[in-house]
Amino acid sequence: MKTLRIDVTGECYQSGVNAVAEILCGGGIAAVPTETVYGLAASAFCDSAIRAVFAAKGRPQDNPLIVHISSIEMLKDIAEDIPQSAILCAERFWPGPFTMVLKSKGTVAKSVSAGLDTVAVRCPKSKICRDIIEKSGLPLAAPSANTSGAPSPTTFAHVLDDLDGKIDAVVCGEACEVGVESTVLSLVGEHPRLLRPGAVTAEQLLELFPDLIVDSAVLSEPEEGKTVASPGMKYKHYAPKTETFLVVGDSDSFTEFVNKNGGAAICFSEEAERIIGKKLAYGTASDEATLARNVFSVLRKADGLSVDKIYIHSPSKSGVGLAVYNRLIRSAGFKVIEL
Ligand code: TXA
Ligand code: MG
Repeated sequence: MKTLRIDVTGECYQSGVNAVAEILCGGGIAAVPTETVYGLAASAFCDSAIRAVFAAKGRPQDNPLIVHISSIEMLKDIAEDIPQSAILCAERFWPGPFTMVLKSKGTVAKSVSAGLDTVAVRCPKSKICRDIIEKSGLPLAAPSANTSGAPSPTTFAHVLDDLDGKIDAVVCGEACEVGVESTVLSLVGEHPRLLRPGAVTAEQLLELFPDLIVDSAVLSEPEEGKTVASPGMKYKHYAPKTETFLVVGDSDSFTEFVNKNGGAAICFSEEAERIIGKKLAYGTASDEATLARNVFSVLRKADGLSVDKIYIHSPSKSGVGLAVYNRLIRSAGFKVIEL
C-alpha cells in the first residue's frame, strides 16, 4: 500500500482536512496529529477499519482504543449512565489531553473496546484533529500511531518510520505540543481511578476528587496474570532495542554513575557537558513540560547511539513529570536503579 502524505500547511489546510475526512468516511485509516501524540484514526463505527488499525500497529487484540470526539454533545452517542463527575471533568479538561473511561452505549464497533463494556473517550484540543472529526461527522477511534511497543510518535516523520506503506495516509502536521499521551481516568468504579498519568495532572484530579485512586500500574509493574484496569499498562512499551535502565538520583550521583559504568545517557541539559560518553539531553530537570515534549523523540534516537546500555536520568514525579516517569519505567522494562 502506498501511504499518502497529506499537506495541511497554509492554503492546503482545508483541502487536506477534506481529503483525510474522505479517507476515514470510506473506511480507511490515517495518522492525524493531536496535541499529545499522533493518532492512527479510523471510524469508530467501522469494524473493518478498526481491525486494520490493530493490524498496522501489530497491537494485541485485548488492548482497547480511545474514541475521539469534537464536542461534549457527541459523548451521549457513545457512552451511557454518564455520571456527574464525567460532566465536571469534561467541562474542566475538554478539549484537552484527557480521556475518560465510561459505560459504553454499545454504538461503536465491538473491536474498539476489545470486548469490555466500557469505552474510553477524549475530546482533543488540537484544532486540526477536531476539524477532521467534524468534517467526517464520525467519532474516531485512534491509538498512538506507532508500531506497538515502540515509543509514541510526536512528529509525522516518526509515524512514517513505523507505518509507511501500512496505512492509507498521514497528515503532515506540526510536532505535538504535549508529547505524552492523554491522562486516562476511569469513572466506572466506586471511586475515580487514574489509569494513565498525562498533562492533566494527578494534582489537578485530586483537587476535584479527594477520593481519587492512583492505579498501581501507574508506578509499578503489573503482577503477572493479574487483571489490570487498563489493558495497555501491562505491555512493555516505549522501549529502545538497547537495554535501558531508569536511574533515580541527584545530578552529581547520576553523572558519576554514568561516567563510571559506560553506556550512554539520556540526561538533563544542565548535566550533559559533564557526561563523558554518548548522551542525549531531553530538557532541564525543573521543566517537566519540556521533558514530556522530548521524551519519545530521545527514546527513538537512543538506538542510533549504538551502545549496549542506556541510562536515563529519572524526572521528578510531580506535575506532568509523573507521566514522563510512567513512560520511562516502561521503556526500561521496570529496571530502576536508585543511587
Ligand atoms: O493522547 C492519547 O491518548 C493518544 C492520542 C492519539 O489521542 N492516544 C493513545 O492511545 O495514547 P493508545 O491506544 O496508545 O492508549 C490508549 C490507552 C491504553 O492504555 C488502553 O488500554 C486504554 O487507553 N484504554 C482504552 N480503552 C479503555 C477502556 N475501555 N478501559 C480501560 N482502559 C482503556
Ligand atoms: Mg500507545
